[in-house]
Amino acid sequence: MPLFFFPFIAMLHIASLTFSSPLILAPLAGYTDLPFRLLCRRFGAGYCVSEMISCHGLVYRQPNTLRMLRSIAEERPVSFQLFGAEPDIMEEAAKILMEFTPDMIDINMGCPVKKVTKKGAGAALMTEPKLAESIIKKVVNAVNVPVTVKIRLGKDKQQINAVEFAQMAEMAGAAAVAIHARTWAQGFTGSIDQQYIAQLKTALNIPVIGNGDITSHQAAQQMMQETGCDGVMIGRGALGAPWIFSNKTPPATLAEISKNALLHLDLLEEFLPAEKMLGYVKNQICRYFKGVYGCSFLRKEIFTANTLITIRQLLAANLAQNK
Ligand SMILES: Cc1cc2nc3c(=O)[nH]c(=O)nc-3n(C[C@H](O)[C@H](O)[C@H](O)COP(=O)(O)O)c2cc1C
Repeated sequence: MPLFFFPFIAMLHIASLTFSSPLILAPLAGYTDLPFRLLCRRFGAGYCVSEMISCHGLVYRQPNTLRMLRSIAEERPVSFQLFGAEPDIMEEAAKILMEFTPDMIDINMGCPVKKVTKKGAGAALMTEPKLAESIIKKVVNAVNVPVTVKIRLGKDKQQINAVEFAQMAEMAGAAAVAIHARTWAQGFTGSIDQQYIAQLKTALNIPVIGNGDITSHQAAQQMMQETGCDGVMIGRGALGAPWIFSNKTPPATLAEISKNALLHLDLLEEFLPAEKMLGYVKNQICRYFKGVYGCSFLRKEIFTANTLITIRQLLAANLAQNK
């Protein structure tokens, strides 16, 4: 079948909200902080989802948790993602979250990481649909913003329940469902199975957001065309490549890439105590040069840098040299 791409893609609507693009930054623990979300919004992401936020951290008002909720007007609309497995605590956490005025709240029902699933949260909730339903209802009733749910295909290939689970979420009041088209058992291995995104779209009346393995703007458009989904969430494909949300040609030269890495560094310095988070900053900045021909030496130099100034100088030198 010949593929053709529309010159622009449709807007996304969730409940009464309208987003300028159907391409969304997926929640990524350790990455989707305010600086990165802001950068992705500047490149055209319709909205961005925060890192997952623990309901217990919120209820105990732990400073590290509350720090993750910083937002500014320019990044709006923003969605904050909650994770947890106890309906009453999720309800209380959602109420506290509202003090930070998110435009939407997402509930994590897809994370396969042991630390999360062993407590019954994340993807483990797909094996407990009654409990999941109770969580969704409690959160929906506790807030006055749209609540979305992020799921997987199911526990494993033998126990795929995405369609029934998503229908339950819709009935419980979810305003949209995002689906990472892998099973819990798959983790991040193997390939996604896109047919279930299409099945969800047919089965639900609320928007369906497809997710998994998208590494270019065109591939996102293709997922929308092939599955009929209303939006596409992009995670790893946006790391070191926030321009994935733009329909313009991606940066092709080392100078252009370095320029964007410098923009990211500026934002990290503006909004985070970056000097105290050198390892974190290096990890984010090195992403820009991962897989870029001839950049392994630069990555090494960034990783061994002892100060932010050194990182900035390395990037600036590459910008100048490669013009
Ligand atoms: C480093 C990392 C952190 C993640 N953190 C979260 C998270 O906090 N909440 C969540 O729902 N999913 C999380 N995910 C899953 C992603 O949101 C996404 O569903 C998955 O990576 C597949 O999309 P992708 O292929 O576009 O990356 C994370 C994935 C990665 C690789």
